[in-house]
Amino acid sequence: MNRRTTSLVLTIGLTTTLTLTACSSPNVPELKVSDSYMPRPVSDLGAGFLTVTNSGGADDKLTSVTSDISDDVTIHRTENQKMQEVKSFDIPAGGALDLERGGSHLMFMNLKSRPAQGQKVGIELHFEKADPIKVELPVKETTYNPARH
Ligand code: CU
Repeated sequence: MNRRTTSLVLTIGLTTTLTLTACSSPNVPELKVSDSYMPRPVSDLGAGFLTVTNSGGADDKLTSVTSDISDDVTIHRTENQKMQEVKSFDIPAGGALDLERGGSHLMFMNLKSRPAQGQKVGIELHFEKADPIKVELPVKETTYNPARH
């Protein structure tokens, strides 16, 4: 690639970025899901963990979760080692919602099938403002707990 082509590519790249920025209002949430997984279930009960990052200019909330694998998916937080169903989780503007082992989690009741390690479980996250996001949760070993520092 010669120098002229390179600078042309760079120019196009910059233009695209600027256009996208101009299109997105600062008053909407911009959500991205990462670090998602499901520990391999050993009963008809499953848990899901993930992080939702909000780089937008408005707060949002995770309000519900649906999945092919269960008709009864709820969102739970853990307090004093007891879990409790909640109606929603906050995803603050410029912040993140972290579901981690020992803390908040997605809860799958009455699993229709028990996924094996290495399989993927499709879920859809529903938010108060943002469009739903489909996520594939990789199934990890039952005791899996990613070290985060
Ligand atoms: Cu739970």
